Amino acid sequence: MAALPVPTDHAARYLARAAVTAPSPCNTQPWHFGYGSEGLCLFADPARCLPLADPGGREMLISCGAALLNIRLAMRHLGFLPRIEAFPDSADPWHLATVGWGPYAAPTADEETMFSALHRRHTHRGAFQPDPLSALLVGGLRWHARQEGTELRTVGDPEALRSLAALTRASEATRRGHPALAAELANWTPPHGSGRHDGVPAHAYPRDPDTTAFAGRDYAGRARMGYAARASSRLTLPTLGLVVLLCTRHDRPPDWLRTGQALQRVLLLAAAHRVTAAFHTQPLELPDLRHRVGRSVLTAGHPQMLLRLGYGDRARRTPRRPVGDVLSHEPPGPRYPAVPAPSR
Ligand SMILES: Cc1cc2nc3c(=O)[nH]c(=O)nc-3n(C[C@H](O)[C@H](O)[C@H](O)COP(=O)(O)O)c2cc1C
Repeated sequence: MAALPVPTDHAARYLARAAVTAPSPCNTQPWHFGYGSEGLCLFADPARCLPLADPGGREMLISCGAALLNIRLAMRHLGFLPRIEAFPDSADPWHLATVGWGPYAAPTADEETMFSALHRRHTHRGAFQPDPLSALLVGGLRWHARQEGTELRTVGDPEALRSLAALTRASEATRRGHPALAAELANWTPPHGSGRHDGVPAHAYPRDPDTTAFAGRDYAGRARMGYAARASSRLTLPTLGLVVLLCTRHDRPPDWLRTGQALQRVLLLAAAHRVTAAFHTQPLELPDLRHRVGRSVLTAGHPQMLLRLGYGDRARRTPRRPVGDVLSHEPPGPRYPAVPAPSR
């Protein structure tokens, strides 16, 4: 009997639908997918990079790495081993990976657990309930981060926490007082009822970003409206959650792509256990403060993501662009970068 043709676009749509649930800074969704006989190609979309907050494209590649992990999980859910070639085209720095369908192997329990959390993972902003995460779960999160070649450091030392809180506040003060940075953020916070499929909607953030010792991003533009920041020098430990730093040994595009895959493993495993994450990447977007974050916690390596993990009210989902807008049969056409291509 002749083999049935592979329903390529159906399979590609299934993978892309999983991919786009990934987090991205300001919900920019900086990715595009192309499909062909070799599988699904993942491209970064530099026109969706934040030129001021992320001039080197580091956070864009972290987001794409998270999307890549989702593609891997979606393939594993169907029982196929993904065949991944990272940075397959030396002439195109935005072609981050090609993922082909490998041989059959039943998915593991962990893979199924993470896959089942794809649509349940949402970003939390604000305080957490005081319940601590179990040591077993924390050990699992660390293990998953290690499998991607990264390290998940938990930060419990009060001095280090105080230092990270101060650096987060300092970066927020810089951002809030900088008209161009504030305008860039405002571009990605559409007003209620805008109908946009990207950006951070008003239901996803509190009006007051300073409800914990780790300042939140001022999505509501309170500083622009003249409200003073609530300087909270106290560390309200019970509602802070578990502070973690995801780090890599080196700091090149392959490390950023790796970080995204590790991040998504951590977020999905956490979500499967009803634990949500609050992101505090503001100090990592300013080179001097990023260096100081590293010095506060690490003896070596590079800080990539700063998160708090805990039990919170159910965070709500944010929109995504329709799959038809991010998936094409051909590789995407010319891309007009907001940021220059990083060199590997
Ligand atoms: C690299 C990266 C940096 C982020 N930085 C922040 C941040 O500093 N503050 C914040 O509230 N959310 C941050 N986020 C979360 C995004 O805003 C969030 O993923 C996006 O709005 C989509 O919402 P969702 O995660 O609920 O699907 C970040 C996400 C990524 C991937």
